[in-house]
Amino acid sequence: MSIEEIAAEIKDCKRCSLWETRNRAVPGRGDVHAEIMMIGEAPGKKEDELGMPFTGAAGRILDEMLAQADLKRDEIFITSVIKCRPPKNRNPKAEELLACGTHLKKQVSSIKPKIICILGNVALHMLIEPNLPIGSVRGRILKKEHQRYYPVYHPAAVLYNRNLEEVLRKDFEALPKLVNGIR
Ligand code: URA
Repeated sequence: MSIEEIAAEIKDCKRCSLWETRNRAVPGRGDVHAEIMMIGEAPGKKEDELGMPFTGAAGRILDEMLAQADLKRDEIFITSVIKCRPPKNRNPKAEELLACGTHLKKQVSSIKPKIICILGNVALHMLIEPNLPIGSVRGRILKKEHQRYYPVYHPAAVLYNRNLEEVLRKDFEALPKLVNGIR
């Protein structure tokens, strides 16, 4: 399936109850042949209004980090594990993660990224291992089922703890060289 076909499915999706409260589903955006895919948690208020990922406060931090790393949004593909905003930005429920995981799997199969940059704990727990603390694996390449992953703190974490900014910046800056080293 093409990324456009998957996006069309996501926009019509009623696989969990989040469709009842969403304004817009947020399938993701970027290069359909990207070497780097970034996966966050779930759309917030702004993303739900616009249908675009990382357009609110966390998006501003993400843009800063991308600029420091000399990466452009249109050369990567950005999405989240959950495509519809959970009410009041609560954490996604297990059944929502399960339902939405189907879309994410299709997106990964379509894009075939060299590396998946995991943004924060929610994506880490869904994609790698439940309960694994992001602080223990951030900035390292993990391999699972022939896919490389690179977990980093979620950009929104910087909004709550400014001490994480430098760590996140360093992890982002290391990314282009890591990707170039992958055959
Ligand atoms: N946080 C996410 O994880 N994804 C978005 O799209 C916006 C904020």
